[in-house]
Amino acid sequence: MREEMEVNRRFWEEAVDVHMRSEFYDVDGFRAGRSTLGAIVRSELGDVSGRHVLHLMCHFGMDSLSLARQGAIVTGLDYSAAAIAAARQLSQEIGVPARFVEANVYDARTAITDRFDLVFTSIGVLSWLPDLGEWARIIADFLKPGGRFYIAETHPAIRWFDDRPESADAPLTAFYPYRDDGRPEFYDEPGSYTDGGKEIVNTQEYSWRHGLGEIVTSLATAGLRIDFLHEHPVCYWQALPALVQDDDGYWRTGPNHPELPLTFSLSAHR
Ligand SMILES: C[S@@+](CC[C@H](N)C(=O)[O-])C[C@H]1O[C@@H](n2cnc3c(N)ncnc32)[C@H](O)[C@@H]1O
Repeated sequence: MREEMEVNRRFWEEAVDVHMRSEFYDVDGFRAGRSTLGAIVRSELGDVSGRHVLHLMCHFGMDSLSLARQGAIVTGLDYSAAAIAAARQLSQEIGVPARFVEANVYDARTAITDRFDLVFTSIGVLSWLPDLGEWARIIADFLKPGGRFYIAETHPAIRWFDDRPESADAPLTAFYPYRDDGRPEFYDEPGSYTDGGKEIVNTQEYSWRHGLGEIVTSLATAGLRIDFLHEHPVCYWQALPALVQDDDGYWRTGPNHPELPLTFSLSAHR
C-alpha cells in the first residue's frame, strides 16, 4: 500500500499551507496560547509534565506543542516534509521546544530509536493507515514497559451515515459500509475538510475504514492492555450535516436526531 500512501502524502504536502491559513485550525489563537487538545483529551490524559511523548501523525505540530506547553518532552512524527517544516517553525515562533521527525509511521522504528512514556495520536489519523496490526506493534515497540498509549479519534460509526443531505434535519441513514475488506476507497475531490483548499492540485486520496473492533483487537494483539474505551456524543468537526456546533466548540447531533457516538478515546498500557 506504499503507492496509495504516497498519493495521500502528496495531498498533505499541499494541505499544510492551506490549513495553516484556515479558520478551522486558528493558528493565531494557538500562537496566543490556545490548547488544541480539547477538554476531553486534557482531562483523560492528566498530567503530562516531564513525560517523554511520541506524537504520531502530528501534522504541523499544534497538538504536539500543546502537550509541550503542558511540560511534556515531545517528539512529533509526520511523513509530510511541509508539515514538519511548519511544526519546527511554529515551535521556534512560540518558543516551545519539541523535536519533529519526517517519516512514515510504518518506518518510524528506523527514524526514531528512543522509547517513550506516552505514545499519543488524535483526530483524523486512522483512515490514512492501511494496516492497523503493524501500527499497533509499532506503538507497543515505542513504549517503555508500563508506558501508555492514548488515542482520541472520530468514531468509525460516523462513516456509516449518508453525509450528502443538504438539510441538517434529514433522517440519518446508514449508507456506506462500516468497514472495508482491506482495499482502500479512492476519492478525487477538490478542497480539504477545512474552510479552503480549492487551490490544492493533488486532490487524490485513498482512505481505509477500520471498525472499532479492529482498532481495539489490533492493540490487544500487540500486547497492550486496554484501560478504557470511551465513546463520546461530541465531534471535533462537522462530520455529518446533522451535527450542530455548541458554545463549547464541539459538534453534536441536533434536537431532531438521536445521540450518536461521534468520538472515541482509548487508553492502554504496555
Ligand atoms: C488530519 S492530520 C492530523 C491530525 C491532527 N490531529 C491535526 O488535526 O492536526 C493527518 C496527518 O497525518 C499525516 N499522515 C498521514 N498518513 C501518514 C503516514 N502513513 N505516516 C506519517 N504521517 C501520516 C499527514 O501528513 C497529516 O499531517
